Amino acid sequence: RTTISQIFADQDHFGGRTVTVCGWARTIRDMKTFGFIELNDGSCFKNLQIVFEDGVVENFKEIAKQNVGASFVVTGTVVLTPGAKQPLEVKAAAIEVEGPSAPEYPLQKKRHSVEYLRTIAHLRPRTNLFSAAFRVRSVAAHAIHCFFQDQGFVYVHTPIITASDCEGAGEMFRVTTLDMENPPRGEGGAVDYSQDFFGKSANLTVSGQLNAESFAMAFGNVYTFGPTFRAEKSNTTRHAAEFWMIEPEMAFCDLQGDMDVAEAMIKYIINTVMEKCPDEMAFFNSFVDKGLVERLSHVASSDFARVSYTEAVELLKNSGHKFEYPVDWGCDLQTEHERFLTEEVFRKPVFVTDYPKEIKAFYMRLNDDGRTVAAADCLVPGIGEIIGGSQREERLDLLEGRIRELGMDPEDYWWYLDLRRYGGTKHAGFGLGFERMVMYLTGVSNIRDVLPHPRTVGSADF
Ligand code: 4AD
Ligand code: MG
Repeated sequence: RTTISQIFADQDHFGGRTVTVCGWARTIRDMKTFGFIELNDGSCFKNLQIVFEDGVVENFKEIAKQNVGASFVVTGTVVLTPGAKQPLEVKAAAIEVEGPSAPEYPLQKKRHSVEYLRTIAHLRPRTNLFSAAFRVRSVAAHAIHCFFQDQGFVYVHTPIITASDCEGAGEMFRVTTLDMENPPRGEGGAVDYSQDFFGKSANLTVSGQLNAESFAMAFGNVYTFGPTFRAEKSNTTRHAAEFWMIEPEMAFCDLQGDMDVAEAMIKYIINTVMEKCPDEMAFFNSFVDKGLVERLSHVASSDFARVSYTEAVELLKNSGHKFEYPVDWGCDLQTEHERFLTEEVFRKPVFVTDYPKEIKAFYMRLNDDGRTVAAADCLVPGIGEIIGGSQREERLDLLEGRIRELGMDPEDYWWYLDLRRYGGTKHAGFGLGFERMVMYLTGVSNIRDVLPHPRTVGSADF
């Protein structure tokens, strides 16, 4: 069995040879004594033109009456057709109708809107847009593993079910085996989770970071790459309830080193995808985001900007731009602020560092000014935040103090605090939102269209 991409990639080799290809019909034309099938097998964009002739294939009538979407196994000779619309075609000797398709097949040969395609997410991988998006997604995932593995980072599988709330934002999906219509109740009528499966309340992870830190304190450099869950009621084009995150964690590393790794990683992903997916990138460049390839090439070959939160707030305040949410020191940056910084002020990716401690998570290292923490978010044009990272608080007393200050219970973090008791080191890490990275690579503007089966507020179909 040969893939269509192999045939197109090595035409001189395949010309004149007999091949067997398997795929789905994008179009079928019956010209009475012969016919054409445009076959796609998902290995590339290109459709393979199959010519079938009455008398040569024994089941001509059966083939000719098939509908778009049907699957076929075709055996035939590759004929090079230089000068024709397509450089080659296959003259079929035998065609097996593997699976017929019903006439109401929803993907007809016309341009469907992405909104419509979301309602048929089980079939949309068969369209050019999604075929390209998910091939890029696959290549980008592999590139990320290569980037870290080549530098000796150890890949850690952090748990999906956890008892902690890493980001402290309370946006967790609870995991329970209790009968929630009639749960055991403790003091004051609150649900008694001590009777639950784990003997305590548990949830789906919002980040693997805390667990990754314990492995960084043994292996030095580690990374995670796994699903992450957030019950954020944000119905936006960049928030999903289930998304994938890459979280490197590096011992003996400070915030500068953290940003250096993040910047090198993004450039590596861009370069790899441009090299391995030229056809897909050309497609996105033509049909989704004109100028995409040139922009990404530029990003891969120039330095990212770095600016402190305090400077960023000044830039925004002095910009004269009227924001929906006014900016002032202490406020969390909204998407409109992030996008203004990266699209209007710097016109390239920018790291914003040293945020006020009040708007960041408990584990971030307190700066000498006593009011900011060693955080670094990476913002990119078109999306806003793509990476959130920080140097971690390695000083036991300060970390414990911050946990108490936030009304959290140090008992719940006993093992995390232990990491500071036994050979704790300076360390740092970050989280890259994988879907946002794929959006950035493809120019696709809605996170629902880079997730194979998106889960967002009010939607968990398919
Ligand atoms: O900034 P966040 O919340 O950082 C963390 O979770 C840290 N524990 C990471 C670390 O230091 N190890 O999330 C990291 C990134 C964001 O920058 C964003 O790209 C993505 O995860 N992200 C989401 N992507 C899609 N849908 C959501 N609801 C997301 N929430 C965060
Ligand atoms: Mg963040």
